[in-house]
Amino acid sequence: MEWIKVAGAQELGDDEVKAVNVAGHRIALYRCDGEFFATDNMCTHAEALLSEGYVEDGCIECPLHQGRFDIRTGKAMCAPVTVDVRTHAVKQEGDDIYVRSP
Ligand code: FES
Repeated sequence: MEWIKVAGAQELGDDEVKAVNVAGHRIALYRCDGEFFATDNMCTHAEALLSEGYVEDGCIECPLHQGRFDIRTGKAMCAPVTVDVRTHAVKQEGDDIYVRSP
């Protein structure tokens, strides 16, 4: 596994999400309270990209059926999602944000 640079810290404001590519994997990168987090971008319920959803209170709301996941843990928080979304390690070095390749 290796660390892949995916963004600059200034590219995301708080409570924003961005689609990034990590060694061919579709990943959603989030910024919450100044910290960065990453999950798989594909919802575990059906075919929808979480990066097109809405961030609120530390959760990402899927744009298709409004299922919610905890951004820090990937935990499925409400119907219709029942399967947690996979999370990925993130580190910041200066202005650079890295995600560990799955
Ligand atoms: Fe995400 Fe249905 S596709 S909640």
